Amino acid sequence: MLTGKNILVGITGAIAAYKVCELIRLFKKNNANVKVVVTPNALNFVTKTTLESLSQNPINIEQFDIKEYKPEHIALTDETDIFVIAPASANTIAKMTFGICDNLLTSTFCAYKKQVVIAPCMNTNMWENPAVQENIEILKKRGIKVVEPETGFLACGINGKGRLAEVETIYNKVKDCLVPEQILKGKKVVITAGGTKENIDAVRYIGNYSSGKMGIALADNAYKLGAEVILISTVDADKKYKVINVQTAQEMYEAVKQEFENAYTLIMAAAVSDYRVKNKSEQKIKKDGNSLIIELIENPDILQEMSKIKRDNQVVVGFCAESQNLLEFAKQKIAKKGCDFICANDISKKDIGFSSNDNELYIINKELDVYHIEKTDKQSAALKILENIYGKCK
Ligand SMILES: Cc1cc2nc3c(=O)[nH]c(=O)nc-3n(C[C@H](O)[C@H](O)[C@H](O)COP(=O)(O)O)c2cc1C
Repeated sequence: MLTGKNILVGITGAIAAYKVCELIRLFKKNNANVKVVVTPNALNFVTKTTLESLSQNPINIEQFDIKEYKPEHIALTDETDIFVIAPASANTIAKMTFGICDNLLTSTFCAYKKQVVIAPCMNTNMWENPAVQENIEILKKRGIKVVEPETGFLACGINGKGRLAEVETIYNKVKDCLVPEQILKGKKVVITAGGTKENIDAVRYIGNYSSGKMGIALADNAYKLGAEVILISTVDADKKYKVINVQTAQEMYEAVKQEFENAYTLIMAAAVSDYRVKNKSEQKIKKDGNSLIIELIENPDILQEMSKIKRDNQVVVGFCAESQNLLEFAKQKIAKKGCDFICANDISKKDIGFSSNDNELYIINKELDVYHIEKTDKQSAALKILENIYGKCK
């Protein structure tokens, strides 16, 4: 089930730490690679030897135990797919909320940009404390997945909420994060990526800054969700799914038209040039001391054309990149183009969109409901877009 997945397990000083030995065993039984990081307090509850034997890896405790010139909390964030903190003590939850980095586990969390799941465990009064509750809410808002504690008999001798969730419940939550539900299984999904290039002459073109990363991230994630993916791209991509390389808007239009015919959905993430050169020169244009006037003619509007011909059971998704009045322009675009969804991103922000590895988006449907995807890496944003759009289409 978890073959090839790399899981980082974080253990804090809470009474249920011993139960996490069972969780590590379950991950190992399902072929995951497991690394463990503990707070110093956790070792009051569970031993280094047990954790090392179960995970078959050395245990990470010391922040200043630097290996290969990479601080340990940074080394631990590399090559892991998910960080599971179980049990998460009230103390560590507070540190996570406020960005305190005073041990290897909390520093690793602060440096971690991928998925995090926490399973809190504590006495009922601690759990009900407003500080703990508010911290949990803040972490949830930041995208941390919380496996709620259960109600039952607690180690402190009372009945109430605070008991660590069952090991199987935590395992299933992690599995769902790593192996998402196959909501696109068997469906043909056509995705465009990159910026089109419109030739001026034999050596020059009109292009744009699109890197293709968002479209490729959507294609990668659609594939993970079980889709038969067709990526129509202006940038090269060596993938397990079919990639059709195109360069101009006209070529992209022809490829999309052909592939969309029997597809379930089209996602137009490419930045398509609105215009092309009317009379492109087969030879390189030479300087002659005069200004050069190039006449441009309109390209086909692929999104609008496909929205016009789409059948009721087909879903068309467009992208819009705006530098001002983002939501207003996006709402106008969905009405004008006639597509089912628009994903809007603000290109005036230098740390997201175009060539960046991150993105922040708004998904807008035909009813003009808006769903916000907070700034995250493009792979995570892509998964959220697909789950949001196609989870609702089911
Ligand atoms: C016997 C015992 C059991 C404890 N169980 C819990 C617990 O289940 N949850 C919790 O949040 N704190 C619990 N604590 C308190 C934490 O160990 C304490 O807050 C500690 O500072 C947590 O450190 P850490 O978050 O760095 O691991 C317990 C303490 C003791 C002595």
